[in-house]
Amino acid sequence: MNVFFYSFMKNIVVAIDGPAGTGKSITGKMLAEKLQIQYIDSGAFYRAVTYLTIINHIKLNEINKIIEITKNCNLSWEGEDIYMNKVNMTKEMRSLEVSNRVSTIAKIKSVREIITEKLRKYKELGSLVMDGKDIGTVVFPDADFKFFLTSDINVRAARRQQDLQDYGYQVQLDKIINEITKRDEMDINREESPLQKAPDAIEVDTTYMIIEEQVDFLYKSILQKINLGTINK
Ligand code: CDP
Repeated sequence: MNVFFYSFMKNIVVAIDGPAGTGKSITGKMLAEKLQIQYIDSGAFYRAVTYLTIINHIKLNEINKIIEITKNCNLSWEGEDIYMNKVNMTKEMRSLEVSNRVSTIAKIKSVREIITEKLRKYKELGSLVMDGKDIGTVVFPDADFKFFLTSDINVRAARRQQDLQDYGYQVQLDKIINEITKRDEMDINREESPLQKAPDAIEVDTTYMIIEEQVDFLYKSILQKINLGTINK
């Protein structure tokens, strides 16, 4: 069956999870373009809330203030840019300061509940690709297609260094390795919706893949599942 027709008719959800720097966001974005459906970067919500706590000098124990910020945090996407309550935050959200704090914010149960609720609403607007840490396990456990991307730590760090450079940040490789290792550890070990592979997700090791290959692999897996009729709908 034609994949465009299928996603138009069925309102599909493609979940892409995995540790930092495995290329989830760019893969998700390109895949969504190819499928002509929405792309949502769930990490942007956690980063946006974190950024707001930093600029408003909110301490990690001021839970009520953090909850209030989370409730009022609304994001929209315009091409490559992410807007939070209509202000362009694309660069600010990627800073090392935000990366170093975001997993602590993401541990807070009520923050997760509010963001999860916001994320689920996108499905009402149509088919989507969403990337993050708990999309296939918690946000959309019934997602039609689930992928879990992994990659060697050195490759991940080098990719992240390049991303940061593209946003105008110069960061040493060892600092990045340190940051993503710590963040992965916190994301994997937290109590609330930890980063883990959903049992029915396809694991994709992207260490030796270029982005186009990753996108192609996911796209073909989706086509195959649709054509085999093994999708549960
Ligand atoms: O792209 P990268 O893996 O570096 O992370 P991100 O998607 O920008 O997410 C930043 C952080 O937000 C993660 O390290 C998690 O702590 C948190 N996050 C989460 O807890 N759940 C999600 N669905 C997405 C992000």
